[in-house]
Amino acid sequence: MSRASGDAVVAPTALIACEHVSVSYGEGRAGVTALDAVELAVEPGEKLALWGRSGSGKTTVLHALGGLVAPSEGRVLWKGRDLSSLDAGARGRARARGIAYVFQGSNLLPHFTAFENVAFACAVSAQPDASTTMGVENTPEQLLELVGLGSKLDALPGELSGGEAQRVAIARALAQQPELLLCDEPTGHLDSDTAERVLDLIEGLQREFGFALVTATHDAGVAARAERIVELINGRLVTASLT
Ligand SMILES: Nc1ncnc2c1ncn2[C@@H]1O[C@H](COP(=O)(O)OP(=O)(O)O)[C@@H](O)[C@H]1O
Ligand SMILES: [Mg+2]
Repeated sequence: MSRASGDAVVAPTALIACEHVSVSYGEGRAGVTALDAVELAVEPGEKLALWGRSGSGKTTVLHALGGLVAPSEGRVLWKGRDLSSLDAGARGRARARGIAYVFQGSNLLPHFTAFENVAFACAVSAQPDASTTMGVENTPEQLLELVGLGSKLDALPGELSGGEAQRVAIARALAQQPELLLCDEPTGHLDSDTAERVLDLIEGLQREFGFALVTATHDAGVAARAERIVELINGRLVTASLT
C-alpha cells in the first residue's frame, strides 16, 4: 500500500500515524516551522528510514511519534488513539510500554553500570498492566546477553567502546518490550565497521521480536537498508528518490 507524501488517508491498521502534523518552535519572527503537514503511517513490524539532511526535521518527527513534542497542528495516532488526547500519565505509560528510543550518543547514565542502566528501564516497564510483546524474559542480564554484552554487566559507560555503549542503549530500549523502536542517527558517531555491526544487531532483533523500526539518518547508506524510505526536506515529507 502506498504511503506517498500527500496521502491524506491513514490506514486503520497503522501502529502509529502522523495526520497532517506541523510542529513549530518559538513564535513570531523567531519561530521555526520544523514540520509542515507531515502525513506518515508506520505499520506494525515495518522497517522505515526517515532520511534527510541536518535540520530537515528528522528528530522532530521522532519526538512527535514518541509524544515528546506536541503538534502545533494535526495529530499523532498510536494504535488509532490520539496521543495528545491522553493525559500526561497515560501518554507516559504508552511510551514506557510500547515506544522506545535509541539515540546517536548512547545517553547512558555515566555513573551507573551497564547492568544498572538496563535495570532502570526494566523497572519502568514492569508496570502491573504492562503487556509483554517480545516474548523474552525481561531481566538486565538476559537483555545484555542478547546484545552480546553478557561479560560487561559491571562496566561503566566510560569503560565501554562507542559500539558497546550503543549495545547497552539497545538493551535498555528492549527492556521496554517495544512495539516501535525509534532510532535517531543510531550510528552517527561510530566508525563504519562498528556502525554496520550495530545496524545488523538492531535489524536482527527486529526480525526476532517483530517491532516496527523507524531510523532517522542523514546517511544514504543507512537509509538504503530499510524496506521503505521517506525523505524530509525542510520539514516536508517527500517520497525518497533513493530507492
Ligand atoms: N527545541 C528547538 N527549539 C527551536 N528550534 C528547534 C528546536 N529543535 C529543533 N529546532 C529546529 O527545527 C528544525 C528541525 O530540527 P531537527 O528535527 O532537529 O532536524 P534533524 O534531526 O533533521 O537535524 C531545525 O531548523 C532546528 O533548528
Ligand atoms: Mg536530528
